[in-house]
Amino acid sequence: MRINVIYNENCSVTLDRLPKKCIDGIITSPPYNINTERSDCYYNNGYSNIDGLSEAEYLKLRTEEFTKFSKVLKEKGVICYNISYSKENPILPTLLVSKIHNETNLTIADIICWKKSNAIPFQTSPTKLSRLTELIYVFVKKSSLHTFRTNKKISKVNGKTGQRFFKNYTNYIEAKNNDGYRSNLKAAYSKDLCQQLINIYFPEGSLIYDPFSGIGTTQLSCIESHCNFIGSELMKEHYDISISRLQKKGLIFHS
Ligand SMILES: C[S@@+](CC[C@H](N)C(=O)[O-])C[C@H]1O[C@@H](n2cnc3c(N)ncnc32)[C@H](O)[C@@H]1O
Repeated sequence: MRINVIYNENCSVTLDRLPKKCIDGIITSPPYNINTERSDCYYNNGYSNIDGLSEAEYLKLRTEEFTKFSKVLKEKGVICYNISYSKENPILPTLLVSKIHNETNLTIADIICWKKSNAIPFQTSPTKLSRLTELIYVFVKKSSLHTFRTNKKISKVNGKTGQRFFKNYTNYIEAKNNDGYRSNLKAAYSKDLCQQLINIYFPEGSLIYDPFSGIGTTQLSCIESHCNFIGSELMKEHYDISISRLQKKGLIFHS
């Protein structure tokens, strides 16, 4: 298995090739299916042509991916899955999370609220709120719900009982929306967010997979946090940008 590589292909293809239980975790943000029947305007997020499935197709595809994630994930591995919702179908992430819980051996260990620096105000909507936050669902194997691996640091140990106390880590992260890199991908997240997730869950040297790697934000964060990575990105345009961003770091990665 090659590591520190991004593959320009469908993540299903990469997942089929990866050995069982080879990765420590996943940090990713999938398509949100936001091109479905938008009634207000056409919004191109950079991959709109593949981001308008029916609800049933979307739930089936994403759940099948989770079955494959589970196969490549180590027993105590962690999946950080950042997903928000469209104005047309706000229930979709909730339906997806419960389908994954019901149909795979994964479940939710925590839900993190990410507060972004800013949100486009919904000032024309009489009902909907401006979305300043997004959720990160933290999935683990059901068998490891209380024993999954993290990077939490111990602050003290009770000498008599051996009870360990950890530094305080909260399920609230404030982080930039994105890295300010201009491209047609409008759905990139930030290194700021990724690094805070790595800090909670992944010790140095961990192998982190991003199945929807976009312009390479997860991979850049891995490098800066001394972790290893594998990525998959379907669209050549996004893949090329990710390679060029990595090369600017003086690192050359080809699939
Ligand atoms: C929400 S964006 C992720 C952006 C990424 N977190 C970043 O900061 O650059 C989703 C990405 O997944 C890609 N994508 C969609 N379906 C895919 C698939 N089946 N396999 C691999 N990549 C896919 C899209 O082209 C898009 O770049």
